[in-house]
Amino acid sequence: MSILVTGGAGFIGSNFVLDWLAISNEAVINIDKLTYAGNLENLASLAGNEQHLFVRGDIGDAALITRLLAQHKPRAVVNFAAESHVDRSIHGPEDFIQTNIVGTFHLLEAARAYWNALEGEEKDNFRFLHVSTDEVYGSLSKTDPAFSETNRYEPNSPYSASKAASDHLVRAYHHTYGLPVVTTNCSNNYGPYHFPEKLIPLCILNALAGKPLPIYGDGQQVRDWLYVKDHCSAIRRVLEAGQLGEVYNVGGWNEKANLDVVRELCAILDELQPRADGQPYHTQITYVKDRAGHDRRYAIDATKLEKELGWKPSETFETGIRKTVQWYLDNQPWVTNVSSGAYQDWVNKQYTT
Ligand code: NAD
Ligand code: TYD
Repeated sequence: MSILVTGGAGFIGSNFVLDWLAISNEAVINIDKLTYAGNLENLASLAGNEQHLFVRGDIGDAALITRLLAQHKPRAVVNFAAESHVDRSIHGPEDFIQTNIVGTFHLLEAARAYWNALEGEEKDNFRFLHVSTDEVYGSLSKTDPAFSETNRYEPNSPYSASKAASDHLVRAYHHTYGLPVVTTNCSNNYGPYHFPEKLIPLCILNALAGKPLPIYGDGQQVRDWLYVKDHCSAIRRVLEAGQLGEVYNVGGWNEKANLDVVRELCAILDELQPRADGQPYHTQITYVKDRAGHDRRYAIDATKLEKELGWKPSETFETGIRKTVQWYLDNQPWVTNVSSGAYQDWVNKQYTT
């Protein structure tokens, strides 16, 4: 048996594939376009593993997906592939529309045709799991209750709007065609292999390089942070026991203001790798222009997933962020390779204008 994973060379997808193959003997067909965010080095430890088949390709390439489904007959599709960075979606939304909306549509079409042709148990057991974000629900005030699965969709960025559209398509394919889908909407992830355009890895790398730690606006925007391996365990659980057509919010019960997140990782760095001049890393914090349309607060109510499927995160923010900082310190070659080329072009564009 096998599963087909899309976007499995990205941050969350690669963690998912690595964890999956560590605990299961079911093969993974991993299809990824290898955009700037896809990195085969994340999967280097799988070299020679016959349970992992990597295929470079686009989820929008219906012919390729159709061929892979026919050839490998996976029992599930887990869709991570997406353009995922809000700031990039502000600079140029088109790729987000292409991959997150049009790409998901083609993937759904291919999955529908494949599922329609299945019979018996194979048909009954097939799942299409769509990985999405809490950002589709919009922004909360300080006192609003956390997002539940019944919150209205109010996406505010081109990224979240494109993810919202993909969620709607997935829902429609269940209601209209009966495709056996489940959707997860997760909060902000952090952990190993996180591309350093996002807040946490960017600040770890900048801190170590003696560069400014850029805080947008007043730094009081709140996000709910979940260690990536807890997100992966939630996806495995939903794949295993999620009810068809249902949506599950995934979160860590770890609401933090951005400034506090950065101060916390600075304090861990002070302990693990103090600056040569003895100064604390937080002195590198610099306030920069705010993000356009910056959502003020996200918070996830993960009660449904906990109560109905018995899932719980195993890391607190304090344990997860320490592991993450340590991982970046221990994996300098990965950091060096990922911080060149296209990454430098992005940093120049985003932080020097
Ligand atoms: P990422 O940007 O690190 O990885 C995305 C991967 O998808 C990359 O490997 C990229 O090459 C691949 N990809 C992009 N376009 C593709 C296409 N057209 N066809 C095939 N592959 C393509 O993103 P991530 O942080 O790992 O996020 C994975 C998924 O989880 C996304 O759907 C994202 O919306 C969702 N999500 C992310 C977070 C988070 O905090 N990072 C939180 C909740 C949900
Ligand atoms: P990010 O990691 O881009 O995730 P998202 O926008 O999906 O939540 O950003 C997390 C928060 O950190 C968000 O409120 C924007 C803020 N931020 C900064 O203050 N400075 C930065 O350089 C970056 C990349 C993000």
